[in-house]
Amino acid sequence: MTTPEIPRLYRDADFNGPLSDGHAARLIRGLGPLTGRRVVDVGCGWAEFLLRALATDPTATGLGVDLDEDLLAHGRANARARGLADRVELIAADVGAWRGEPADVVVSSGATHVWGGDPVKHTANALTALRDLLRPGGRLLFGECFWRRPPTEAEAAAVPFIPPAQYRPLSGLVDLALAHGFRLLALSEAATWEWDDFENRQALGREERLARNPDSPHADGVRERADRHRHARVHGMRETLGFAYLTLVRA
Ligand SMILES: C[S@@+](CC[C@H](N)C(=O)[O-])C[C@H]1O[C@@H](n2cnc3c(N)ncnc32)[C@H](O)[C@@H]1O
Repeated sequence: MTTPEIPRLYRDADFNGPLSDGHAARLIRGLGPLTGRRVVDVGCGWAEFLLRALATDPTATGLGVDLDEDLLAHGRANARARGLADRVELIAADVGAWRGEPADVVVSSGATHVWGGDPVKHTANALTALRDLLRPGGRLLFGECFWRRPPTEAEAAAVPFIPPAQYRPLSGLVDLALAHGFRLLALSEAATWEWDDFENRQALGREERLARNPDSPHADGVRERADRHRHARVHGMRETLGFAYLTLVRA
């Protein structure tokens, strides 16, 4: 990750989610041979997963959609550096308003919120929209949170930005996907160390920024965000929140 466009917070991250290199490679294999396939990643961020998927087959093409121009610029620079620029397009758009041709493979990871609305309905709304983006028989990689166990009142209070009803147990997440017209091909979850690695990189980014710029007018805000996030992680999320990867096929 060497391009200058990316915000400092993400500079050391590979993916903007709890995902290791080996796990990503297995998920890409589960999407089937990508020969001649069109892969669409909605809420792609800097599109690391999409770029790695396209790198596995020289005939695959891809499209990534995200609102954040800085993240997309980082993804485009990585695509150029890896010789993928002629096979991938990264466009700035609101996924909720964007319409595309049905694709062979769709990726949505940590991005159910891109369709907006009530957070409690994000997962269901996303599954409805994602089904429409896929051709029949097409595959979906769906990365979404679930509760390993219901948060206690104190844990829920430590994570005020997640309504407990927004997520469900893993079994409920799978059942919801099936009820939206998918069949399950594969299921895995982020290991605790993958979560820790992801969270640690972000926390370290904030701490280093504070240490380098103690007198910055932004220091109080950065410290406050770092404290808030650490509190939510340690007191609310680490024991309770899981992240699942469902490889689904449109029935
Ligand atoms: C948690 S990140 C996940 C990024 C990527 N899928 C990954 O796993 O690395 C969620 C992404 O959704 C994007 N996003 C949020 N709202 C959006 C919208 N309405 N339309 C398109 N992208 C959106 C954000 O800019 C961010 O890059």
